[in-house]
Amino acid sequence: MLTIALPKGRIAQETLEIFQTIFGRDFAFDDRKLILESAPFRFLLVRNQDVATYVYHQAADLGVVGLDTLEEQELDVMRLLDLRRGVCKVSIGMKKGEKLDLDKPDLKVATKMVNIAKRYFDERAVAAQIIKLYGSIELAPLVGLADMIVDIVETGATMRQNGLEVVADIMESSTYLIANQNSFYQKQHEMLDIYEKIKNVIQATA
Ligand code: PRP
Repeated sequence: MLTIALPKGRIAQETLEIFQTIFGRDFAFDDRKLILESAPFRFLLVRNQDVATYVYHQAADLGVVGLDTLEEQELDVMRLLDLRRGVCKVSIGMKKGEKLDLDKPDLKVATKMVNIAKRYFDERAVAAQIIKLYGSIELAPLVGLADMIVDIVETGATMRQNGLEVVADIMESSTYLIANQNSFYQKQHEMLDIYEKIKNVIQATA
């Protein structure tokens, strides 16, 4: 039995579709249920930010989560495969027309992704003040809470509609299949088998 943590929403749906393609049968959660038993698999529906936690503590053997979230959380899990879905970037946004000037003193940066932001500015020896927010990040520069934001950009629509634009890209992201290290060795045969099958579907649909 392999337990697989999926993030609620589109990524869970897309991952279950990959399993349907592989096994030729339906994988669907019943209404509001958080566990789907479908031998030899057990799927868990969790919050995106919790996927790696379940895998790290071995409450799940495998998980599917964005690279941006993994980079932010820095939990020690194995990154098995790029699923090439959920492609986006983590970028710096500023009010349209403004330029990124890392020499400017007292830079204030609003973000959900404080670790990624901190690493970016640390690597450039810039002492930026990182302001943690939980959502609606694009608002921060508009009301003077921050000079810039570090946020996820998928279509760019949210920034555009709020009068912001990307001034620098920090990283590219997509969803990854991750594994618990102990599970990987304890259940190596099952793990490699499903890994190969998922890899074939990804390559066929690339
Ligand atoms: C993310 C991100 C941006 C938006 C980018 O927010 O924080 O606001 O998506 O997408 P776009 O480039 O296609 O406009 P999300 O929808 O995850 O909501 P949240 O801010 O509540 O986390």
